[in-house]
Amino acid sequence: MNLQNKNAIITGASSGIGAALCKLLIEKGAKVYGVARRESKLNEIQKKIGNNFFPVVLDVTNEEAVSKWVDSTFSDTHKPDILVNNAGLGYFGKIDKISLDDWHTMMNVNLNGVFYFTRKVVPHFKKNPTHTHIINIASVAGLIGNPQISGYNATKFGLRGFSQALFKELRYDKIKVSCVYPGSVATEFFEKAGSETHDHMMKSEDVANTLIHILETPDNLLIDELVLRPLNPKPPSE
Ligand SMILES: NC(=O)c1ccc[n+]([C@@H]2O[C@H](COP(=O)([O-])OP(=O)(O)OC[C@H]3O[C@@H](n4cnc5c(N)ncnc54)[C@H](OP(=O)(O)O)[C@@H]3O)[C@@H](O)[C@H]2O)c1
Repeated sequence: MNLQNKNAIITGASSGIGAALCKLLIEKGAKVYGVARRESKLNEIQKKIGNNFFPVVLDVTNEEAVSKWVDSTFSDTHKPDILVNNAGLGYFGKIDKISLDDWHTMMNVNLNGVFYFTRKVVPHFKKNPTHTHIINIASVAGLIGNPQISGYNATKFGLRGFSQALFKELRYDKIKVSCVYPGSVATEFFEKAGSETHDHMMKSEDVANTLIHILETPDNLLIDELVLRPLNPKPPSE
């Protein structure tokens, strides 16, 4: 896909991988609708990367708000071309310690939010005469289970199944579906999960560059799954 003048929806645009991807897409000439809850962060990003970035203050777990926003933004004369379901979070802990709230929040953001956006955007993609693309940001936690991340594992394994099914369902509608599985990336994700980043983690910009590559592949070439890892994942102190 040539990204010039394409309309991209990026969820989780206010920080980390999403914010880095928005910047690169703008540099490629796309128009970017950046979705997140923190308006001030989105406005700061707009100041930095320009008016082709449109802040969309929205909670992806609010189905009604997602539905209304898609309906009021896109039409047969203004179609979306790219959807990156990137908003996500992880709460870690032993199974008998994880709270109901944390469990439900992970399910709602990492899985239900993806469904709410995808179900509304796909009908527009089907009407788009050119190729369109959905990228779902899973995690290596969508491939390998580990102690104390059972809830996060469940959401990202779920996202893998969702992505694989959609890829097979939508390929003949010229809709590409890719699922990406990053290892550790130095973002706010760890702070929110009660942990810390270190210098050997991958950089958001590097992950975003790979996402650009996935988007720019020739129309009849699909990267359906991609695993990204830091070569040496241990903290520099070890
Ligand atoms: N960092 C890693 O090591 C790593 C590894 C593998 C996969 N991932 C995945 O990568 C994705 C991006 O994470 P990140 O590392 O870039 O972390 P991040 O910097 O914490 O970004 C998460 C983004 O999701 C948004 N978000 C969270 N809940 C939301 C909601 N209810 N509605 C709308 N937006 C919401 C946040 O914005 P607001 O708070 O402003 O709403 C923020 O923009 C996630 O799906 C994560 O699971 C991360």
